[in-house]
Amino acid sequence: MTTLAFAQTSALQTVRTVDDLRAQVAAWRQKGETVALVPTMGALHDGHLALVRRARELASRVVASVFVNPTQFAPHEDFDRYPRDEAGDAAKLVSAGCNLLYAPTVREMYPEGFATSMAVGGPAEGLCGTFRPQMFGGVALVVTKLFLQALPDVAVFGEKDYQQLMVIRRFTRDLDIPVRVEGLPTVREADGLALSSRNAYLSADERARAPELNRALVEAATALSAGVDAGAILEAAKARITAAGFGTIDYVELRDAETLEPVRRVERPARLLAAAWMGKARLIDNVPVAVGPVPAE
Ligand code: PAF
Repeated sequence: MTTLAFAQTSALQTVRTVDDLRAQVAAWRQKGETVALVPTMGALHDGHLALVRRARELASRVVASVFVNPTQFAPHEDFDRYPRDEAGDAAKLVSAGCNLLYAPTVREMYPEGFATSMAVGGPAEGLCGTFRPQMFGGVALVVTKLFLQALPDVAVFGEKDYQQLMVIRRFTRDLDIPVRVEGLPTVREADGLALSSRNAYLSADERARAPELNRALVEAATALSAGVDAGAILEAAKARITAAGFGTIDYVELRDAETLEPVRRVERPARLLAAAWMGKARLIDNVPVAVGPVPAE
């Protein structure tokens, strides 16, 4: 067996190269183990740790990747100031039962001469795909690489990034990548704010106002369940978000829960998705919209 050049970080085995990752996964496979992958960009919070705990239920070994992926950020976005804390991440991953941290360098993922990109359509269209046109091609590229590098049985992603989850499901299916993509419901603070690494950008005052995004979505989702036209309800949700002190609202939209095609009224499971700026933080959130009870005749 290949000798693994790994470092111990807080007792978590850490590999930085594709070769070392593959060698460890191959060693597990030889023993009949199954493997789950949890891709992250680090700055881990309880939402990520819930993904790791779910991964533990789905496979006997769990790999978490920590890689702030430059190809999914536009030049004006927060790649440089995105929070990074590998030692802290490793300690949290150990506590959640992760077996291996894969933390490649940018050069390892995108070596000199790298010349490949991915174009994704379908669920990538509109929503964040409009406001962050760089994002889903970059996500597709890095997640495809991670899948092919680790070849896990299953990979776990959060529904907090619902559009991302649908995009990953779609290209994994379209490209016949033999990895099961599992989604996990959003983990929230007690006041409803979705956990996000970018919440670190909020001031105390902004943090106090931020949960209103979720409250507006929950209220709107309840109204939309009745199957009424979405127009006025979405406008009321935007007004509530603005009144809470949010700046630019990128979108508040009702979409089909699976295809993410725009929906005017709820006749099958739908999703209400929003992105809005609070200070320097672009917050995203989404909630399910169930089809309401059919009134008795
Ligand atoms: O959701 C994230 O943290 C990232 O977009 C992902 C999926 C790890 C790809 O870089």
